[in-house]
Amino acid sequence: MSHPEIESVLHEDRVFEPPTEFASKARIKSLDEYNQLYEKAKANPEQFWAELAESELHWFKKWDTVLDWQPPFAKWFVGGKINISYNCLDRHLSTERRDKTALIWEGEPGDSCTFTYAELHAEVCQFANALKQLGVGKGDVVGIYMPMIPEAAIALLACARIGAPHTVVFGGFSAEALRDRLVDGKAKAVITADGGFRKDKAVPLKVAVDKALENDGAPTVEKVLVVQRTKEAVTMVPDRDYWWHELQPTLSTECEAEQMDSEDMLFILYTSGSTGKPKGVVHTTGGYNLYTHMTTQWIFDIQDDDVYWCGADVGWITGHSYIVYGPLSNGATVLMYEGAPRPSKPDCFWELIAKYKVSIFYTAPTAIRAFIKMGDHLPQKHDLSSLRLLGTVGEPINPEAWMWYHRVIGNEKCPIVDTWWQTETGGVMITALPGAIATKPGSATKPFPGILADIVDHDGNPVGENEGGFLVIRYPWPSMMRTVYGDPNRFRRTYWEHIPPKDGEYVYFAGDGARRDEDGYFWVMGRVDDVINVSGHRLGSMEIESALVSHPAVAEAAVVGRPDDLKGEDIFAFITLEGEYEASDELKVELKKHVTGEIGAIARPGDIRFSDALPKTRSGKIMRRLLRSLAAGQEVSGDTSTLEDRSVLDKLREGA
Ligand code: WTA
Repeated sequence: MSHPEIESVLHEDRVFEPPTEFASKARIKSLDEYNQLYEKAKANPEQFWAELAESELHWFKKWDTVLDWQPPFAKWFVGGKINISYNCLDRHLSTERRDKTALIWEGEPGDSCTFTYAELHAEVCQFANALKQLGVGKGDVVGIYMPMIPEAAIALLACARIGAPHTVVFGGFSAEALRDRLVDGKAKAVITADGGFRKDKAVPLKVAVDKALENDGAPTVEKVLVVQRTKEAVTMVPDRDYWWHELQPTLSTECEAEQMDSEDMLFILYTSGSTGKPKGVVHTTGGYNLYTHMTTQWIFDIQDDDVYWCGADVGWITGHSYIVYGPLSNGATVLMYEGAPRPSKPDCFWELIAKYKVSIFYTAPTAIRAFIKMGDHLPQKHDLSSLRLLGTVGEPINPEAWMWYHRVIGNEKCPIVDTWWQTETGGVMITALPGAIATKPGSATKPFPGILADIVDHDGNPVGENEGGFLVIRYPWPSMMRTVYGDPNRFRRTYWEHIPPKDGEYVYFAGDGARRDEDGYFWVMGRVDDVINVSGHRLGSMEIESALVSHPAVAEAAVVGRPDDLKGEDIFAFITLEGEYEASDELKVELKKHVTGEIGAIARPGDIRFSDALPKTRSGKIMRRLLRSLAAGQEVSGDTSTLEDRSVLDKLREGA
């Protein structure tokens, strides 16, 4: 790993103190309070988490051991019995939250509905009973392939309720990608919808499920539960496919929550890494419940009258942790939106904030950059005065986008929490606590209490102030991924052995480069592996390369990220063709379509360059560093002495 790109050049002097008014009412009110929590957690992490687990969550049975750490495998709250669906629903029913709004949902065409906690509980119970009726039980994996409708959240909670681990596949993934995940996860059932509305169109989903399952494509799948949304015609396979709206009226609104072991698997979520096919990241129940609960409470400063809106999709970890589990466990009111800004309604987000008096808004830098482009007049048309806190996630935020968010959306009064974390970490790891930690545009600021983050070199030695290095975590935390589904060795290799363990101390390697400044603030600079972050979506270069090579015209493909003003990064593919094929614009279009079919539109290359050969080392490794420079239109710098054939480089430049 040699990564000149982690030498950051960003210089930023602006500092924004937590507004006094905000801090005075916040959950964590001052830097002193944060420091005390941080030191307490550092001195005795087990005690710190155990106290919170006891006071903040409901347990059917208390644990025997807080942490069992056999590096790199951790178990939290061993012997404890818990159910996250119970913590998100049932326990609120005996309080005044019973009739509080849990979920506000707005569909893209403008239809909407709300659920109180009591109503959501009843609906989740019915859904859980439907799954049981279809033969799904504790330990059976369920695939979820859904649009952003209430039933997406309900499906998660219903699976958790009966102890069936879910594996959500983002609705933008293709049938092929869906099938791969259902096969790897050995899913017994799939929950889907006829389709969903996106950018003024009905997007079909059930047809993709049918395609994934055809010819026994995913042989473990026995049943498909289908929610009606778009009312477009779909084919229902007898004895396999069932309409939710037909089952629902026949089902009881009571379904007792299974008493799960703290370490029982809650879900698998697939994510891209630098090598191989997507990994099934495994999260378990107790630790994940606790960590998403605490982070939601302290970072989003959830108060009883807040209306909280996270703009992510349930298909990503942000949707799991911060639309569904974290907020509902805290008894918050959550807004969920099916749609996206589109030409017919570019200001739909601001309209929604005004309509529902949203007080906390959490989105991605990519979205913010798109809003900037659309113009200040759109947010300015709406009353955004209900907002009191803003958040971002998914990729580094450039200071100018941060300043715009602060000024135009936050009216210079809302703190911004820039939250760094990953599918693997389960919850936010580095972030400001809005009433306690002063923010600097572009910095995620400080680690959450209990998180021992550090920056090290290749050998695991801490680097100096303001020096670039690899971001690592030194101690287990409750919501850390437990393993790669079905491949514990891959888990060990990928995350715990990149930085060699020293004196038995294993450190978690996140795959990001970062530096820490003189105030102890973290500045995350992005991936240092071959993961490309397109609009906050993680894609592995190898995955896209495999998709390209599966096309008959492609002999070899190398895919890199290229800086992009809007998307953060865009996909750039270098391709050599099989002898009988000729480079052409039509072929480029065809290859882009091919990748969309294999993975999904989010993986479609923005640009393709054909070439006679790719730059390789003498041992045959493609030199992506050179390709990254070429894609960015930069002079190729650094060491090229290992390049096997230097003329390849000149030809690639000419091809530009
Ligand atoms: C990147 C999303 C900088 C990072 C929750 C990480 C960020 C990857 C930030 C994980 C942030 C996420 N600042 N970079 N605030 N948040 N990232 O698994 O590169 O989809 O490794 O989880 O996104 O992406 P994932």
